[in-house]
This record gives sequence, C-alpha cells and structure tokens, in this order.
Amino acid sequence: MSQTSNHYRTHSSGQLGTGQTGERVILSGWVHRRRDHGGLIFFDLRDGEGLIQVVCDPSSDSAVHETAFGLRSEYVVRVEGVVRLRPGGPNPNLATGEIEVVAETLEVLSTCAPLPFQVDTEGQAPPGEELRLSYRYLDLRRPEMRELIVLRHQVLRAIRESLNDQAFYEIETPILMKSTPEGARDFLVPSRINQGKFYALPQSPQLYKQILMIAGMERYYQIAKCFRDEDLRADRQPEFTQLDLEMSFVDRDDVFEVAEACMADAVAAVRGAPLALPLPRMTYAEAMRRYGTDKPDLRFGLELGVIDDLAATSGFGVFRKAVEAGGTVRCLALPGGATWSRRRIEELEKIAKTYGAKGLAWIKLTGGAATGGIAKFLSEGEVATIAERSGAREGDALLFVADRMSVVCAALANLRNHLAAELDLADRNELRFLWITDFPLFERDETNGRWQPSHHMFTLPVEGDLERLESDPGAVSSYQYDLVLNGWELGSGSIRCHRADIQRRIMAVVGMDEEEAEGRFGFLLRALDFGAPPHGGVALGIDRLVTLLAARECAMRDVIAFPKTLTAVSLMDACPSEVDAEQLEELGLALVERAEED
Ligand code: AMO
Ligand code: AMP
Repeated sequence: MSQTSNHYRTHSSGQLGTGQTGERVILSGWVHRRRDHGGLIFFDLRDGEGLIQVVCDPSSDSAVHETAFGLRSEYVVRVEGVVRLRPGGPNPNLATGEIEVVAETLEVLSTCAPLPFQVDTEGQAPPGEELRLSYRYLDLRRPEMRELIVLRHQVLRAIRESLNDQAFYEIETPILMKSTPEGARDFLVPSRINQGKFYALPQSPQLYKQILMIAGMERYYQIAKCFRDEDLRADRQPEFTQLDLEMSFVDRDDVFEVAEACMADAVAAVRGAPLALPLPRMTYAEAMRRYGTDKPDLRFGLELGVIDDLAATSGFGVFRKAVEAGGTVRCLALPGGATWSRRRIEELEKIAKTYGAKGLAWIKLTGGAATGGIAKFLSEGEVATIAERSGAREGDALLFVADRMSVVCAALANLRNHLAAELDLADRNELRFLWITDFPLFERDETNGRWQPSHHMFTLPVEGDLERLESDPGAVSSYQYDLVLNGWELGSGSIRCHRADIQRRIMAVVGMDEEEAEGRFGFLLRALDFGAPPHGGVALGIDRLVTLLAARECAMRDVIAFPKTLTAVSLMDACPSEVDAEQLEELGLALVERAEED
C-alpha cells in the first residue's frame, strides 16, 4: 500500500520506521489491542500493512487521554502525533517495534459493537469456524487471514503477468450458458423472458474456449469462476476459480511449457525460490502401479509392492482367491510398524475398510523374520521378495489388501496418505509437482457397466487407438494429462478432438445417441465443421494452488474471501435463501412439497 497523504493519513504503518523519528504524522486504522497502564494508555493501531504502537499521555493532553480511555477493540480512529524511539527499547515482534507515535489528537471515526470474537488472536486458537464465517469481515481482519487473501492476489497477479508475457489474450466467457451437464450437476438459472427455459452456470469454460480456438483466437486464458453442484469436500467448493487456458496448433509439450512457466512465476512470486523446470512426468499406468492413485504425493516414498505372482500360489486363501478372480494383491510398508500394537494396526484396517477393502492383512519384520498376522502363510523367500518390492526394512510392518484393482488401489493409496500424515513424513514447504500423462480415454462406470470419459468428452484419442474406439474402448489411450501438486489434483487438460467425426464417435461410445448429441452439443459439433484448428489446453485450480502455496497449514476455505460451508451455505449472508412468491410467479415457477424422506 503506497499511501498518498490525505486527511486520514500521511503514512501507512508500513512506511514508518526510525527514519521518521521526530516527524509529525497522521495515521488511521483499527484499535487492535489497548492497554491501560494507569496514567499512560497504549494501543496498537492496525492498518492494511500492520501494527504500530500509539501512546496517549494524560500529562501532555487530557482530551486525547479521555478519548483513549473510551477506546475499545476495533474502534476506527484517526491519530495525529509525533514519531519517537520507544523509550523502553524495541519490540522485536513488531515490524515497527523500534518506534511509537505519541498522540496529540485522537478522533474516533467509528465505534464497534461488542465483538463475537477477538480479532487479536495472536498466540490463541482461532474462534470456531461457524462464527468466523458468520462474521467474515471480522475474520478477514485477523492478520493471518489477511495474509492468505493477499497471497491469493499475488498468485493471480503472477499468473496474469506470466500469460500476458507469453502472448495470451484474457477473454471472458459467459456465466449464463446452456446446460450441458458433464461430471457434476449444473446450477440452473430460470429465465424470466424465456419462460420455462433455463440457463446453467458454467462448470468450466471448456466449450467456449474450444470455440474461441475455432474463432481463431489461438492463445486464450481466463481466471474463470466455475460452478458445480456436487457433494463438497475439503478440496471442493461449489463455486471455485480456475486458471483456464487453451492454445491452437500445439501438442502436449507446448501446453506443458506454458503451464510450467506460469507455475514457476507464481512460485517465485510468493516463495521467492525458483521451481526446477521441466516438471517431472509419470504415465497414468506407472502412477497407478507405484502409488495406487493418479495423484501421488511424491514428498514421501512408501511405494506399493505388487505381489500377484506370489499371491497366485500363496497358502493364504484370501490372496489366492483374489488373484484367481482377476483381482490383485498389493502391499505397503509401515515404517517402524514392528512396534505397533494390534489395536493400532486395527485402526488402519478400519480406514482401509472405508475404501471398500474387506480386511487388512499384516506382518511385522522383526528379529530377521516375519511375525504376527499372516506370517505363518509366507515362506522366508516370499517375505524377502515382498519386503524388497515395497521397500520395507527390519523394524517395519507390511500391510496387504487383496481385492479388485480399484478397491486395492483406493484402500492402499488412502492408507499411504493417512500414514504420511500420522507419521509426519511430508514437508509442508516442499512443492512436488508432477504431470500424469497418457490417461485412458474411458473408464467403466462400475454401477451400470457403461463407458464414461475418464476426464471429459472432448479429449482426443491417440491416433493408433482410433480403430478400437468402438470395439475395445477400455484400451484406448488419450492425450489427457493432470498436474498434481503434493498429492492434490491441481489441474487437468488435454489435446482436444478438433474433428467432428471423432467427436461424434466418442459421444456414441459414452451412450449418447445422435439426437442427444445434437441436442446437447450440436453447437460445438457444428462449429467443429467449420475449419477447427488442432488445439489443447489445461485448467488449474486456483483455490487449491493458493492453499498449497500458503506458508502455513490452512483449509481451502481460508484462501477464499467468502467461501461456502461443506453444506454449500454462506453463513454471513444466509444464502441460499427462500425467494418471494412474486419472484417465483414472474419466473413461472412453483415449488412442490417433497414427501418427507424416512
Ligand atoms: P477439471 O474438472 O479437472 O477440468 O477441473 C480443473 C481443476 O479445477 C479444480 N477444481 C476445483 N477446485 C475447487 N473446488 C471444486 N469443486 C473443483 N473442481 C475442480 C481442480 C481441477 O484440477 N475443462 C476442464 C479442463 C480442461 O480440460 O482444460 C476442467 O474443468 O484443481
Ligand atoms: P480372516 O481369514 O478373515 O480371519 O482374515 C485374516 C486376516 O486377513 C485379517 O487380518 C483380515 O483383516 C485380513 N483380510 C481379510 N480379507 C482380506 C483382503 N481381502 N485383503 C487383505 N486382507 C484381508
């Protein structure tokens, strides 16, 4: 904040230091903390940059002292006074700790109602989140919250500058669009002028950005608001922000280069450290084999061991049967697990079961042999092989899951993350970016057996696989990629279908007949008929990026000025809310009572 002089201020707190000693200054801000030392009254004045101590001395000015006596936390004040060195010596905890301002006039600009919680939470646990979200303006005054909002600004600024420098155009796309639900549910907006019809809020600008490429814009980006009506989790908000970009006449590596430069600029801006480029890459198949997930956290090891070959002839029936049924058996080392109690291991089993595992078999490696759990079913040679494949050592335990591939991967990948947290294996300050490449184009929906796009419908299949698009969809590879950071999916993108015929075939594989394809995506298919350039792009989640770049552990909600709760509610303004009967009438809408569910 570079403050120009006006009635309220000659300086902001950040502009003050020993260099201003003896100067007369005017400051405005909030009363952060007030201390009454009998005669002298001190308070810390807080502005957008920090704190500075103000002293009100009854012996020099009784009017000032009287006003100071009535000050309460979070009053807004204007102070005129003189800067001096602190007589008691500097306060090392404050940027302005060497000086203070002796007030000569003190004016209250605003009073403050009794606070629901203290803004000054230094050294204390923050207040409960419900209260914080209900009074978000007070919450955001807390310096640690303010820092996060400023960090977000710095990240956005760095990204914009990076893409502007890389010759991208920032182009806005509509917020009111046609409903074309893909992954999540759409938020719908009824039209008053076109009764009975609805707009949808964009889940992403995907279709518009592709159409911008067809329109010849070649390099587009947008800091785009996206809306998805899905079940919320810690890393999901119903309304969130993407850095969305798209480029024409490019292949995958061109997109990577742009996104990497952008990430490096953002990291440099807020961490002050360079990011080593190019970022590492791993195929989807390798990630699934080594970590059981397409978003592995590389800040720690704990790679999974695959032991299908041993399991096939194992004396442990559970293993043998899993492999016979076409499933898999994998294991995970538990560092230091040889000293874990049975009860503690059973806690891990409970976690594995929440991801569908039927159990969690285990052994301990102690005294040069395997003991406990299923040790009696394993030969010495088998134990040695298993230990080698999973990197387990003497003093560790080994955890096994046998099941369908999807269950084994989900259970062990989540256990792996759980253990890293419990054993504090990941360094918060380390940033491990990773591109995951070569995703399959489709995945099978286990509930109905249908093929669905593993990302979205607009991704280009690898040319060599085009001929099996219909005959063997599961074997078709694609130009889809994800960017992962510290175990979070940070972004996703692909090279797109720029040919309408391929696009139509993909829609057919995922079960859309021609009529439906035309009804939902006819506008895109038509545009693709008019000279579409080869194109591709990526979208990175800004909320997730800022959360991971923050210097301290924080929730994704903390880096969003006005977030929603896990039940999709904004507590401060009580939204969503009912609307007037008149508004509904105007829209031609009527509410129906839903039968109470049991
Ligand atoms: P995708 O759906 O993978 O891709 O979204 C891209 C990135 O957006 C972030 N993100 C979210 N962040 C917070 N809350 C949410 N509910 C949420 N959902 C997604 C994630 C995610 O990686 N159009 C494609 C991109 C493309 O192909 O170019 C898309 O939207 O960080
Ligand atoms: P049981 O034979 O059911 O007593 O199981 C012996 C051990 O194997 C227990 O520790 C179970 O948790 C474990 N177990 C059972 N089913 C599985 C499975 N599908 N994968 C891994 N471990 C299992």
